[in-house]
Amino acid sequence: MKYAKEIEQRKTFAIISHPDAGKTTLTEKLLLFGGAIQVAGAVKSNKIKKASTSDFMEIERQRGISVATSVMSFEYREKLINLLDTPGHKDFAEDTYRTLTAVDSVILVIDCVKGVEEQTQRLMEVCRMRDTPVIVYINKMDRDGRNPFELLEELEEKLNIKTQPLTWPINGGKEFKGVYHVLNKSLLQFQASSKATDDDLIQIPDINAPLVAQLIGEKDAKQLQEDIELIDGVYDGFPVDEYLSGQLAPVFFGSAVNNFGVKEMLDTFVDIAPSPKSRFTNTREITPNEDKLTGFVFKIHANIDPRHRDRIAFFRICSGKFERNKFYHHVRLDKDVRFNNPYTFMAREKNVVDDAYPGDVVGLFDTGNFKIGDTLTEGENMTFVGIPSFSPEIFKEVVNNDPMKSKQLEKGLNQLTEEGVAQLFTQHGGNRKIIGCVGELQFEVIQYRLLQEYGSACSFKTLPFYKACWLGGDKTAVANFAKFKQANIVEDKDGNSIYLAQSEWYLNTEIANNKDIHFYFTSEMK
Ligand code: G4P
Repeated sequence: MKYAKEIEQRKTFAIISHPDAGKTTLTEKLLLFGGAIQVAGAVKSNKIKKASTSDFMEIERQRGISVATSVMSFEYREKLINLLDTPGHKDFAEDTYRTLTAVDSVILVIDCVKGVEEQTQRLMEVCRMRDTPVIVYINKMDRDGRNPFELLEELEEKLNIKTQPLTWPINGGKEFKGVYHVLNKSLLQFQASSKATDDDLIQIPDINAPLVAQLIGEKDAKQLQEDIELIDGVYDGFPVDEYLSGQLAPVFFGSAVNNFGVKEMLDTFVDIAPSPKSRFTNTREITPNEDKLTGFVFKIHANIDPRHRDRIAFFRICSGKFERNKFYHHVRLDKDVRFNNPYTFMAREKNVVDDAYPGDVVGLFDTGNFKIGDTLTEGENMTFVGIPSFSPEIFKEVVNNDPMKSKQLEKGLNQLTEEGVAQLFTQHGGNRKIIGCVGELQFEVIQYRLLQEYGSACSFKTLPFYKACWLGGDKTAVANFAKFKQANIVEDKDGNSIYLAQSEWYLNTEIANNKDIHFYFTSEMK
């Protein structure tokens, strides 16, 4: 238990949302509370703006800038908070999925006008796979949004999680008057661009007291009293253990751009969000307070700007203490490696770090030694699990436009896919190479980088597939299925058999007809 104090201090999380719900704005407000930035707008300038696919160079350039904000660490109420940034652009969703493997909890931002949107649903599916604890922030209450009860119902239904409101809004849109804290029994009146402090909280021990009507008017007081009565009837206290096991999400209402309702959420986050948790490897469970260092790479950032050809591997520490210049065991390559200039990301600046603890993320300069999921230890041979590849959504066959450069193409494709830019599949028994991505943008990135970095020219032929399923279950059944469905069967880089389905209908038919085969949507086959 050498590092118990450091571990207990750390909270590592990510903010997820559908683009435009307010993730960047909320990030900024949290950093302001933590004193990590001084002025509003500092994060925004690093945001990857919506862009068409032809702007991918611009997006990559901005992505380069955003390396510095990949991890934002700040202190708040004596805790050290590591906020892992996730790209807003949907074409980089796979980056987000992987970042979610490195956090201990998430804050989910919902736009009160739009409710649960597509991207939210997908990201939450990834969180649910690991039972990641979730706090929900319903944003933009200064706009005319949906009924709050309706929103909660939609959250429960579409995200498959129980919810419990910890604050409750008084009206919305132009009539938004503030929030009532259900557990603390206090009321906070809405002010635009709020710098509200705890002193502005008005204690309301009895929701039926005349003070409520004096503060917010007869009509709204009546509505609030009715709402709270209903809520009090359903919930009895807040079961933190259900939150920690990912079964129940506490919900806050507010307006991030007005910095309203943010502090209440941050305070609760600091009180209840988990410190670094145990994680599983292929051999055993690792608890964070073990003396020896362990951790894994969850993201690799390669700069495609030829003037800055650096590559940074993001390494999440799971146990022990990471020290600069110390040798660690790279399990997959079975060799010892050390790092002269590991980075941390305190207050948005990259700083060389001498030591770091469980929950921290360090940036390691990499010359091609790392791929996603690689594990470092102090000698033990084991690999962290729970960092799977997810089914891509767009599939294209690689067409080699320069047969003289076949070797370079092969090498380039292997390296880029190890970085996690895309997934590479090879057709069974043949030589066809198929790339799977979440967004169109990646294909442009791959084409560009193959030419610039490996001198190989290629183009892509779109294939009519909709999902990749890793095949498990009865081995003979899988082998027979693969023989019969040859045109749809490929292998991933680890030699796993994968079925590429043309449509949901085809997939459901195959699932129904092949009871001995399991169809999985991630490479970890769970
Ligand atoms: P994202 O990172 O999730 O994509 O969202 P972001 O924070 O960039 O917010 C998207 C838009 O929503 C921004 O407006 C932002 O100002 C606005 N917004 C965020 N929180 C609130 C809120 O509580 N109420 C209201 N009414 N709007 C909010 P934009 O016009 O796209 O950008 P900007 O020009 O305002 O920066």
